[in-house]
Amino acid sequence: MNIQPHQAQQLVKEAKKIKEKAYVPYSHFPVGAAVLYKDGHIISGVNVENVSFGATNCAERTALFTGVTEGYTKKDIQAIAVSANTKDYITPCSICRQVMVELCQPDTVVYLTNGKDEVKEVTVEELVPFAFSSMDH
Ligand code: THU
Repeated sequence: MNIQPHQAQQLVKEAKKIKEKAYVPYSHFPVGAAVLYKDGHIISGVNVENVSFGATNCAERTALFTGVTEGYTKKDIQAIAVSANTKDYITPCSICRQVMVELCQPDTVVYLTNGKDEVKEVTVEELVPFAFSSMDH
């Protein structure tokens, strides 16, 4: 299912906007993520930090976990956008990449943005080649 340019723009815009809600008292590094579902619905999320740093949840996981909570499955996801005020494109951490492997399809598009609103398009498979995705034996 192809993503229309206006849908991609809207998704990136949403990821950028939701960043304002990030809870980042420790890093002061707000991140926003937005997931577009095939029914046109967008679910967004932010990073939520903790004084015990390891308890922090990244924006991508916040959005993807909310999608699961709303009843969406991996076949429903069309694209993800991630936004941060970075010089270079924000790139998801490895835990979030593994969560994308679990909850998205290998060809799910991920739009990575930077503080200048430039957008780089990659897929989940490109973010995680040779992924651990099954316990078949
Ligand atoms: N973070 C995200 O939310 N997503 C990313 O793609 C990279 C990192 C958060 C975690 C932490 O709250 C802050 O950014 C600094 O690592």
